Amino acid sequence: MVPPMRPVHLLASCLLLAACGDDPAAAPAQPLPAPAQLDALASDPAVLARGRQLYLTGKGYCTTCHGVDGNGGPQGARLASGQWLHGGSMAEVVRSISEGYPQKGMRPWKDSFSQDELIALAAFVRTLPAAAASAASAK
Ligand code: HEC
Repeated sequence: MVPPMRPVHLLASCLLLAACGDDPAAAPAQPLPAPAQLDALASDPAVLARGRQLYLTGKGYCTTCHGVDGNGGPQGARLASGQWLHGGSMAEVVRSISEGYPQKGMRPWKDSFSQDELIALAAFVRTLPAAAASAASAK
């Protein structure tokens, strides 16, 4: 006969689930933080530095299609034009990166990055238009 599940087992499986949160592939989709909190993260220098690193050297190979400066390449959309095809708010850019545009050539990245990483990537990508504009005016 199977013994009834005791509370201690429930606790153990909750802890196990929490530990799984480190593995983005296994983690259930988390709701995004509220817009104000996302905007605060978007101006946090540590978040931007992390996003820059992930954009330039991360496993998403973002630069292959979008270019180091976001000016795009043969197959990628420009990220530095200042015109977002799919919306430029933090939530919208996180969504673009998470879900991708498979029919246009960008796969979804939500299984490759944690939510914090997706937020960091979005924060950094949103700085590309201003960086491109100041590079252009410095010429
Ligand atoms: C294989 C090429 C490819 C790779 C790699 C790629 N993208 Fe894209 N991405 C695209 C294409 C193509 C689009 C344009 C979709 C469209 O035209 O609607 C796009 C669109 C986007 C958009 C939406 C732009 C807008 O105007 O709204 C964002 C943001 C973005 N990519 C970020 C990233 C990030 C961050 C990475 C790395 C994790 C990445 N992309 C990797 C090809 C790529």
